[in-house]
Amino acid sequence: MTKSDNPRETVNLFLEDAFANSKSILSVSVLPFTSIFLLAGCAEVSSTLTPQGQGAAEIANLWWVMFWLATGVFIVVMGLALFALFHSRSGDNEESETSSRHDNLLIVSGGVATVIILIVVYFFTLRTINVLAAANPSDEFTIEVVGRQWWWEVHYPNQQVITANEIHIPVGQTVALQVTSGDVIHSFWVPQLHGKIDMIPGQTNTFWLQADQPGEYYGFCAEFCGIQHAKMAFVVIVEPLEEFRAWLEQQNQPAVEPVDSLIREGQRVFLAANCDQCHTILGTSARSTLGPDLTHFASRRTLAAGILPNTRQHLAEWITNPQQAKPGNLMPATTLAGSELEALLAYIESLK
Ligand code: CUA
Repeated sequence: MTKSDNPRETVNLFLEDAFANSKSILSVSVLPFTSIFLLAGCAEVSSTLTPQGQGAAEIANLWWVMFWLATGVFIVVMGLALFALFHSRSGDNEESETSSRHDNLLIVSGGVATVIILIVVYFFTLRTINVLAAANPSDEFTIEVVGRQWWWEVHYPNQQVITANEIHIPVGQTVALQVTSGDVIHSFWVPQLHGKIDMIPGQTNTFWLQADQPGEYYGFCAEFCGIQHAKMAFVVIVEPLEEFRAWLEQQNQPAVEPVDSLIREGQRVFLAANCDQCHTILGTSARSTLGPDLTHFASRRTLAAGILPNTRQHLAEWITNPQQAKPGNLMPATTLAGSELEALLAYIESLK
């Protein structure tokens, strides 16, 4: 902050600095996410202030309580500061004794008000913690999520389904979630559905998800986990129970056997280009778990962990130059002749 001898000028400079700082902080924190939403074609911003599930709604209520209390405090403090700034005192002794008594009263009431505000916030926080802890998630569709640099491995152990970067849940149901990490600490966060939960290597944390309405909700990694932390996103797809069961049933199947000659050639390229060294495609010999399971890759909305729409062009760019979209990720570039790439793309796109 720039200093000045004139108090009024100092206040102006302070406000200018604060405004400039808040603008830059806002743009730095919001920009990467905005680009993801635009790329993924998501119109609604994924905000904790537009809750779509019980967990997020409770957290938003607490946020609003704290926001209005803080707003009240800000207005009172700024009012007093402005009053002090523009109200000059006379040198009269008797008057200065009265105002000294007023000052003391003001200081004591400020202290009492602070204690009352902290007690109110404490009460609302405890209430929110209790309500969130009292949720009784169903084990029927337990989901295990493993955070990896920089993608999400998703298991439905009861249905023997494995997928990546996309989580399906039935609408209205409170689904149990178990999260851990395969490398460094990550944090699982779907702002519109619930708070954050740390994903810690060697430890399983339990959590739950619940959504009131069908729809697509974006999730992010909320703990710095390396250079592509900002590009570690996923999508939660909330659907009616019947659709959800059908999805599980479909994801449980091995990949469709290629019948078309181009797709058969693509499968050959996939195995010959060593894609099977990192990926699994059930129904083929590819069984490695270093990278995402691709058995039903074509059924997913996004690729590269929520950062690109799952289209042929993005897929081609991702296969031939994965370091461009996400520098530092573990996927090696694959050099293929044009016809081989076409066949590989056709094969991967057939993995519905
Ligand atoms: Cu994973 Cu940040």
